[in-house]
Amino acid sequence: MTEEIVTIKDLSFGYPDGRQALNDVSLTIYRGESVALVGPNGAGKSTLILHLNGVLRSNGSIRLLGKPIDDKNLKWIRSKVGLVFQNPDDQLFSPTVFDDVAFGPINMGYSDEEVRQSVNHALEMVGMEGFEKRSPHHLSIGEKKRVAIATVLSMSPEILVIDEPSSNLDPRGKWDLIEVLKSLPVTRVIVSHDLELVEALCQRTVILDRGQVAADGLTIDILANKKMLSKHGLAIAG
Ligand SMILES: Nc1ncnc2c1ncn2[C@@H]1O[C@H](COP(=O)(O)OP(=O)(O)O)[C@@H](O)[C@H]1O
Ligand SMILES: [Mg+2]
Repeated sequence: MTEEIVTIKDLSFGYPDGRQALNDVSLTIYRGESVALVGPNGAGKSTLILHLNGVLRSNGSIRLLGKPIDDKNLKWIRSKVGLVFQNPDDQLFSPTVFDDVAFGPINMGYSDEEVRQSVNHALEMVGMEGFEKRSPHHLSIGEKKRVAIATVLSMSPEILVIDEPSSNLDPRGKWDLIEVLKSLPVTRVIVSHDLELVEALCQRTVILDRGQVAADGLTIDILANKKMLSKHGLAIAG
């Protein structure tokens, strides 16, 4: 049987102001999958993925490679779950691209040589080799997004979780990024309401609406169901 990377059982979560963002969400992600997480604004997508590396926690059960997310293994979890935020400015804070991509490996205690190798490899995977000495803040939005992805790839994560990768990109930037994401040899969860991107990258699609899983199946079937897409604010019924 295929290995379970993420196992979520009956996860509910409310923000301190009382807003109930997730209701009894159950979801399993298997090794090697590329899964789209789609749904209207406010559906709970970002809230859900923030649980995958322990930024948010709640009483529901989440396991990462069979282990619970707790204080004891938080550092390990964060090296295994590469979470890329929607806005790269939330991820990039160092004076150079090298420093940002090296941050995780240094924090994990890699040797200087291992740090250098993992940074080179991560930048190569996103097509940003040669940008090591540049300031992240002076890059284009497409370049920033790639570097943000490299900052998590440098730790060789088991799973890449990426929030709205195509937001703010022009069509060329979007298709370039799709090619980069397609080439990465890693299990992926991609949050998006860009159905073109979903179709290009994900065999499986999960629809989240009002904090609940409304559908979970093959992308090809879900995208063909215009009535369902429209019901969840994802397309106009044709
Ligand atoms: N920090 C927060 N405090 C209170 N409510 C929040 C916070 N972040 C998100 N929410 C609420 O939780 C719900 C889910 O939000 P979110 O996970 O951001 O949805 P999505 O990413 O699908 O657009 C929304 O109703 C949103 O207003
Ligand atoms: Mg969101």
